[in-house]
Amino acid sequence: MIPLSVVDLRCEGFTSPLGLTESRPRLGWRLESKREGARQAAYRVLASSSPDGFDVPELWDSGRVESSQTAFVDYEGAPLYSRERVYFRVEVEDETGVLTMSDTSWFETGLLRKGDWSAQFISAPLAGGPLSSPPVPRFRRAFELEKPVKSARLYASALGVYRLELNGARLGDEELAPGWTDYHQSLRPQTFDVTRQLQSGANSLHALLGDGWAVGHIGWKARQNYRDRPALLLQLEIECEDGTREVVVSDENWTCEFGPMLGSDLLMGESHNALLPWRAMGGVEVAPLPDALQLRASLAPPVRATQELEAQSVHRSGGKWVFDFGQNLVGRVRLCFAGLGSVEAGTTFALRFAEVLAGGPSDLNGPIYTDNLRAARQSDVYTHDGIADSWEPLFSFHGFRFLELSGWPHKEAPPLELATAVVLGTDMERTGDFTCSDPLINQLQRNIDWGWRGNSLDIPTDCPQRDERLGWTGDAQVFCETSLWNRQARGFWAEWARQIRDAQTCEGGIPCTVPNPDTGALAASQHASAWQDGGPAWSDAVLICPWTVYRATGDKRVLLENYDVFTHYLDWLQSSAKDNLRCFDGCPYFPGFGDWLALDGSGHTEGGTPKELIGTAFYAHAAGLLSQIARVTGKSDDAKRYAALFDSIKTTFCARFVTPEGRLSPPFQTPYLLALEFNLVPDELRPKLALELAREIKRRGDKLSTGFVGSPYINSVLTREGHLDTAYTLLHQTGWPSWLYAVTQGATTIWERWDGWTSEKGFQDAGMNSFNHYAYGAVGAWLYSQVAGIALDPQVPGYARFVLAPKPGGQLTSAKAYLNTLHGRIESEWHLDGGKFSYRFVVPPNTSAKVSLPDGSGFEAVAGVWEGAVEI
Ligand code: BGC
Repeated sequence: MIPLSVVDLRCEGFTSPLGLTESRPRLGWRLESKREGARQAAYRVLASSSPDGFDVPELWDSGRVESSQTAFVDYEGAPLYSRERVYFRVEVEDETGVLTMSDTSWFETGLLRKGDWSAQFISAPLAGGPLSSPPVPRFRRAFELEKPVKSARLYASALGVYRLELNGARLGDEELAPGWTDYHQSLRPQTFDVTRQLQSGANSLHALLGDGWAVGHIGWKARQNYRDRPALLLQLEIECEDGTREVVVSDENWTCEFGPMLGSDLLMGESHNALLPWRAMGGVEVAPLPDALQLRASLAPPVRATQELEAQSVHRSGGKWVFDFGQNLVGRVRLCFAGLGSVEAGTTFALRFAEVLAGGPSDLNGPIYTDNLRAARQSDVYTHDGIADSWEPLFSFHGFRFLELSGWPHKEAPPLELATAVVLGTDMERTGDFTCSDPLINQLQRNIDWGWRGNSLDIPTDCPQRDERLGWTGDAQVFCETSLWNRQARGFWAEWARQIRDAQTCEGGIPCTVPNPDTGALAASQHASAWQDGGPAWSDAVLICPWTVYRATGDKRVLLENYDVFTHYLDWLQSSAKDNLRCFDGCPYFPGFGDWLALDGSGHTEGGTPKELIGTAFYAHAAGLLSQIARVTGKSDDAKRYAALFDSIKTTFCARFVTPEGRLSPPFQTPYLLALEFNLVPDELRPKLALELAREIKRRGDKLSTGFVGSPYINSVLTREGHLDTAYTLLHQTGWPSWLYAVTQGATTIWERWDGWTSEKGFQDAGMNSFNHYAYGAVGAWLYSQVAGIALDPQVPGYARFVLAPKPGGQLTSAKAYLNTLHGRIESEWHLDGGKFSYRFVVPPNTSAKVSLPDGSGFEAVAGVWEGAVEI
């Protein structure tokens, strides 16, 4: 019989993670088998503190558990201590009773208790001001080691961003660690295994400390939002062969130096003069760990350099040179001098970055366009020492496709190899891809993924280039579902949910951006500002994102852990609504951003859909979601209570916004979409409203007119309500507003605005015109779930059981997608040849699917490969 294997053992989604701070981490594994119908009937987890201690596992033997569960299995062994390495294995019994044992994997805890930290924060004796930044400090500590080392861990973090070297070698590959949290409340420690880097005799630790989010510019604000200078926290723990321990911590025994790094800022850029040596500036300032600060490791993978791109061309513009990397991306540029002939010591290069050139998105020869960066300089300056092979900034990132270089000392064009683009972002594994017979749609799919890669740098951001780069909650909830199709984003969203918890105000409101740089807003008792409550579709991210993660992955903890945040939020909505209306006319609270950037003819950036309508629709949706969350987490009283609230708001919505003729008022597309998507009208009215919506689209020349609020739903609502043809018409549309318009203009990411640049008007308002904003990429979820047809079962989260229902249409003759779920890889592929529809599906082990084919037929599919054809 074809065997089953148990592979890919994980803990909290990571392979062999170091430094976990979860007290009860969750384990997972995957089954592989080519056998039809392969299933797990039961599992047994064994955990031990040594890799060969499984005969009598001293930490945990779960015993035989009859269950098909392969993910989010709580570790229920002996309580975990700090610094503990746990080895584990899983034995799976398949549907025929055969037992298979996995290989051994492990996880290791970090410092679980605050009291484990003896380190203190150290900082330089120099702070800049709100508008001026001092040089980047380097901290040093030399120490001697006499005894042979058995094992060593270095735990570190910073209020700022940091990079470490031990004995001249960089530690780890994380970038811009520890990322952005509310530094008054929580900080993420990183853990490094340094056993091999230590040497007997003299050792030396170096730490570079950049401003990052804690000290540098944030959004359009000045510097020093959380504190006036960065601070480092470091604890090196060495276990010697003879059983003794040595500890080196950040304290008054460190020295501080200033040198070539003249300044670094995430938004403004970095300045480096390689001719300047590092010079000692004396001691460091020391401060204890504040009582209120929690130290907990991130649930998300770290930010890393995930790819390098070579320049594709270089052209002259005035006295400068413009390199084109062919892709709008987020990261930085490395200058490489090796093998390029001489660049003399003292040569200074200035680097500026732009997403497009001045002639518009299809211009490939002009000067760079930087008006849309607003006050973000995103430029670097480097003075060469004539020796270094290369230079790359450490503590800044830019959103760009083009690099403008000044200072190239020769007449001839610089070689392309001088500049390499280094892509930065949270390092999420790819989970899926979608392709079809239309190259424009394939480019749209690539743009969606690049938009996410650039805007998931530690937190979900609106854009990566201008003086903003904030965790806008509205944009995040709009795109969350699509992100989970393309990338393994579960941990990223679970971590951000913890940031939402930190950002919730005392009254329950959720700010428009998370983290909230306006930390004073947290304790305020009036919600007149968007930084106290972001309003409908923005603050509702608090429920929508965790629920979306749960549906896509089955992770219940993201719901349980934040349940009190959800109910507190609903309390706030109830207390601020009047007669079931949220954002009612004249309400004293921030009423939201409307249907942001809709081109519905209203002439407002906030669109023409009334805020009261959007507010009330999202109020109902929030109550409905919380009722479902309560149901799946076993809180049945709450489930009933919030379902009743939903029904009551639905009645108000109908009475207020549905006309006696069965239309919505005003008749923009977004009101129809909200009413249908959130189930706010009686069932019998749905066909009529859907028809009105389809007619409205026709009236506008087969174009959508929605902004951030309506756009994510338009194609799924049309498909569900029997207007698949209209959904395809919108998909294929190439005139603006449409998804493919930007693609036809050469876009390589999703634009913020439908009309970011047009031949008629040129560039949109430079004050609000990013060429890398993921929100409108939310159509990606529809491509996977409807065009390719891999969809969630409405009752079952995480694809343990799912639906395969491809919906061919429009001009497409084929489509293909895969999704790596926690159970394995789902595939769906179809081809249309005349009236013959051929399909191929892959259903992973331990799952099953309900197949619905476009001819109306269907079948139940167990694990295996399914191929066939029908006439349609
Ligand atoms: C951001 C948006 C955000 C909005 C609020 C903008 O400046 O870039 O994406 O959601 O403000 O309306």
